[in-house]
Amino acid sequence: MVDVILGMQWGDEGKGKIVDYFAKNYDVIARFQGGPNAGHTLYVDGKKIVLHQIPSGIFHESKTNLIGNGVVLDAVTLKRECGNVAAMGVDYKKNLYISERTHLILPTHRAIDKASEISKGNEKIGSTLKGIGPAYMDKTGRNGLRVGNLLDKSFTTEYIKLRLKHQKLLDSFNFQEDISAWEEEFFDAIEFLREFKIVNGEYFINEKIQKGQRVLAEGAQGSMLDVDFGTFPFVTSSNTISAGVCTGLGVAPQKIREVFGVSKAYCTRVGSGPFPTELNDETGELIRKTGNEFGSTTGRPRRCGWIDLVALQFACMINGVTQIIMTKADILDNLSELNVCNGYKINGEEKNFVPFQMNKVAIEPVYKTFHGWMKDISSITDFDGLPKEMKTYIEYLNSYLGVPVKYISNGPGRDQLVLA
Ligand code: GDP
Ligand code: IMO
Ligand code: MG
Repeated sequence: MVDVILGMQWGDEGKGKIVDYFAKNYDVIARFQGGPNAGHTLYVDGKKIVLHQIPSGIFHESKTNLIGNGVVLDAVTLKRECGNVAAMGVDYKKNLYISERTHLILPTHRAIDKASEISKGNEKIGSTLKGIGPAYMDKTGRNGLRVGNLLDKSFTTEYIKLRLKHQKLLDSFNFQEDISAWEEEFFDAIEFLREFKIVNGEYFINEKIQKGQRVLAEGAQGSMLDVDFGTFPFVTSSNTISAGVCTGLGVAPQKIREVFGVSKAYCTRVGSGPFPTELNDETGELIRKTGNEFGSTTGRPRRCGWIDLVALQFACMINGVTQIIMTKADILDNLSELNVCNGYKINGEEKNFVPFQMNKVAIEPVYKTFHGWMKDISSITDFDGLPKEMKTYIEYLNSYLGVPVKYISNGPGRDQLVLA
């Protein structure tokens, strides 16, 4: 069976910490989509590490980690990251596998990403510029190179063919930057990748499932960044939702059991695009400062706002979320009042659904106000010990969403998690 941990908002919900925490209950931890646009933060023995390509189960010695076919892989990032985890005592050669169907991010994909963003002027997506969109475009356009191709004799010839196609595109953008240093790094990292355990991911994982092993699928980004259901065009280029597990690992839908949806107790977004509950005031500033809301991948300040139940209910529906994990609850400790968005006012009418083209309609969030708990909750270990104001907040979420908040994360530490 397969359980899934995924983000319900616009990413950075704290998925990395949660996957690291739950990994002990599983045999295999597998990333199913996204690439190095992800930045998943873990604290291992008090030391902070941010993972971009490697699944967040890597610090558990006896567990298998798989980079699934639905991921787009930057070999340079992977090599660097392997060095980082090895320095922390991880034997990645033993327990990290890559699917042969995983598409490679090429240096020209990064260049195209950059050129395309520049060409958009004021309409920028706010991409992480890691080459994600162009790599997925080559996958769906049936041009891309996959990890398994590294073992083909024709790899370099195929690379050169694609490089020429990309150059035409770059010329049309009038992109002048020299990317030879990126290419040098790329070919160096490709040699490193050839040494890896490259497997047929779909047989690999299904054989394990058949033997009764437990798989934890780790999502990247969040449901509101899903290419189909997110705030298009301000989205990423993969299916971040639970359906992405089936296509991104080669597992059948019947194999999926629990879907853990991770949501902050408030909301953040990095990059452009609609964000109905955004706070452009001192409360937003306070949340950003207290929550250290700066991107794990790009360092950009994250936009902050109140929790949005209309969007969360949408995420519950699209993903089939069975349990909610509420993170960063401790960041609200010093707020005397908390707002929860329970509706969108559009053209004067209150609605409770996510509209098509959120960026083209004026949405006024409707709020219900709650008392803050005004207490340091970071060392609380059991639900009974949580402040009553917080329980009221959670009860409201449970009743609105119809899916229970089962865990409350009250600090970045590995074990700062309270079972409801
Ligand atoms: P991810 O991309 O979903 O894995 O999330 P990120 O790692 O990008 O961002 C989450 C940030 O919040 C990281 O710096 C985590 O260490 C931190 N974090 C996670 N859970 C909690 C929590 O409950 N409380 C606090 N204070 N920090 C948390
Ligand atoms: P994790 O896994 C937050 C955002 C970017 C941009 C949009 C498209 O750490 O939650 P892309 O580089 O994918 O073309 O960028 O998506 N984005 C993320 N925001 N967390 C992430 O990952 C993100 N990955 C991409 O900021 O708005
Ligand atoms: Mg992140």
